[in-house]
Amino acid sequence: MIRVNENYLKLQSSYLFSEIGKRMAEFQKKNPQAKIIRMGIGDVTLPLPRVCLDAFHKAVDEMGDAATFKGYGPDLGYDFLREAVAKHDFQAHGADINADEVIISDGAKCDSANIQELFASDITIAVPDPVYPVYVDSNVMAGRTGSYSNGRYGKLVYLESTEKNNFIPNLPEGKVDLIYLCFPNNPTGATITKDALKKWVDYARENKALIIYDAAYVQFIRDTSLPQSIFEIPGSREVAIEMRSYSKTAGFTGTRCAYTVIPRDCKIWTNKGEKTSLHGLWNRRQTTKFNGVSYPVQRAAAAIYTPEGQKEIREISDYYLGNAALIRKAFTALGYKCTGGENSPYIWLDTGMDSWEFFDKMLAEANVVITPGAGFGKCGEGFIRVSAFNQRENVEKALERIKAALVKK
Ligand code: MLT
Repeated sequence: MIRVNENYLKLQSSYLFSEIGKRMAEFQKKNPQAKIIRMGIGDVTLPLPRVCLDAFHKAVDEMGDAATFKGYGPDLGYDFLREAVAKHDFQAHGADINADEVIISDGAKCDSANIQELFASDITIAVPDPVYPVYVDSNVMAGRTGSYSNGRYGKLVYLESTEKNNFIPNLPEGKVDLIYLCFPNNPTGATITKDALKKWVDYARENKALIIYDAAYVQFIRDTSLPQSIFEIPGSREVAIEMRSYSKTAGFTGTRCAYTVIPRDCKIWTNKGEKTSLHGLWNRRQTTKFNGVSYPVQRAAAAIYTPEGQKEIREISDYYLGNAALIRKAFTALGYKCTGGENSPYIWLDTGMDSWEFFDKMLAEANVVITPGAGFGKCGEGFIRVSAFNQRENVEKALERIKAALVKK
């Protein structure tokens, strides 16, 4: 008899963005004339940068010629991309990362979901609340979280991010083994300073813990005092790994390319207390379960590191940050207090009502999709996340409609 992995039955209904998609599709079916504007899932709308497209085309042509054709690529990514990442994304910011510590993949979502396979089943895990649901759900599937009751899984340690701590979680009171951090944060848009990040690195060192640092939104940082990478913090190499993605940086949500950095000296312990290499284990996992990102996609990603590429991705992120500024301004004028939207494409705000009710109201009365904060955890209840990824005219139209719906209430 084929039996189910019972842990899957502990998952809460559908994945947040699937539930949003479902409600949107139902509404559209009943209201075919409605022109819905999506400011829910953080999906980019601007096309790939010209420089990426040119590199993509050229690489596709290479695949059509026996002299330049490529079959399976190197397991962990092509050197041209790994070297460009190490140089531009890390060494240029004073972070000591080598090309062979960069492992190319098809998404930070996949990497952040898959990495938990390397850890023991009885470790203690701390997640922020609100949280990007993938960190939690992937551990639920693996049976590490216990059952769900009253908005939380029994075995997880929740790091509350609220207005009281400016949406930067405090260190856990006790000892945890694994910590997920995401800055600029999804969903709150909050950013962390170097001093605050150093406290996490120190905590991880003292407790032999590991930090999974998700920096998928780093391209939106404009405040130069903020860290771009956890590897700018001394001592982080032994206790942290970092994930980044080209999705939001260069419009690759549909193209798929990302990477995880695991320093060679990042350690994990066996049951006998012996140190082993996390890099080696991830290498082993990836070479067994993943065949790499296609050559043309890696060429397209590498193109962002040219001077023209840097200019183009800056313009793209400036455009979305322009949207974010409009969203912040509009909600602030309506009397809401906003977080994020300055070094982040997400704006997080307290609606003063149930977040799914607010979602339904916006969908019905403004035909605008936002993300209900409750979908990110208990601390998100009452909040919404508004995404700045859209065309300017859509953002302007959406804000007018939202204003009309809220003013008439
Ligand atoms: C989001 O809206 O939170 C993101 O688009 C999700 C993701 O990148 O997987």
